[in-house]
Amino acid sequence: MKKSSLFIAVSLVTLSLAAGAVASSSGQKAPKQVQWAFDGVFGRVDKQSAQRGLQVYKEVCAACHGLKRVAFRNLTEIGFSEAEVKALAATYQIKDGPNDDGDMFERAGVASDYFPSPYANDNAAKAVQNGAVPPDLSLIIKARPDGANYLFSLLTGYEAAPADAHLAAGQHYNPYFAGGVLAMPAPLSDGQVEYSDGTKATTEQMAKDVVNFLQWAAEPEMEARKQTGLKVMLFLFVFTAFAYIAKRNIWRKLH
Ligand code: HEC
Repeated sequence: MKKSSLFIAVSLVTLSLAAGAVASSSGQKAPKQVQWAFDGVFGRVDKQSAQRGLQVYKEVCAACHGLKRVAFRNLTEIGFSEAEVKALAATYQIKDGPNDDGDMFERAGVASDYFPSPYANDNAAKAVQNGAVPPDLSLIIKARPDGANYLFSLLTGYEAAPADAHLAAGQHYNPYFAGGVLAMPAPLSDGQVEYSDGTKATTEQMAKDVVNFLQWAAEPEMEARKQTGLKVMLFLFVFTAFAYIAKRNIWRKLH
């Protein structure tokens, strides 16, 4: 091994050890581990759950969080019909323009629009959220280590603050959040939404559903990618078998 690559390897190990130490010294709890339909090589999107998750996003999270990278038309991928997508888009007011007079205007949404964000910009969000900015949720599952389990744990993990925690007004305690103190109040409580498919809306169920939805939002190509991977593996397996048989035939005379 060259000296420079040895140096890089040693620094990487040291860095990751240091990062581990920081994470544990902040007292952040490791996320609960959940079995997800999208895990593993056969991973797929649980569309029923993702559809319920959209409802949770719309009725709860959207009050504070944007989803600006998801277009309404993409929702056909989790099983909505084009008519349903059109109808949903039309319930939103989208800022457009400028028109011929140079003014921005609002119009009803169409399928190719993206989810509008609740705040015009980060400062507007800070002004009403105790100085914290609710992050856009489009990519949040990929933006946090073990993102799906982390989000599930965050949503279901609120607790009364321990005696030594210092909470300012508008702050809340959650051991799964780095540092334990955050500006988001527990967003879910049992029965908060009413599911039309009869599923009971417990806090856990809503948390699972919104994770399934946001996982799809962050990685819409996941299912196709994993299926392609499986086909490639199958092809390589069959190809290797043929190559082996051919090799045996060609070399047989020399044995
Ligand atoms: C009343 C407003 C409000 C609602 C409703 C709300 N959030 Fe939040 N959320 C916030 C704020 C404010 C923050 C920033 C917290 C901080 O940094 O202290 C936040 C942060 C987050 C984070 C980032 C945590 C991190 O690791 O940085 C995630 C993920 C999140 N919210 C998900 C959700 C989901 C999912 C829902 C719906 C079930 C939801 N939120 C509903 C206000 C809200």
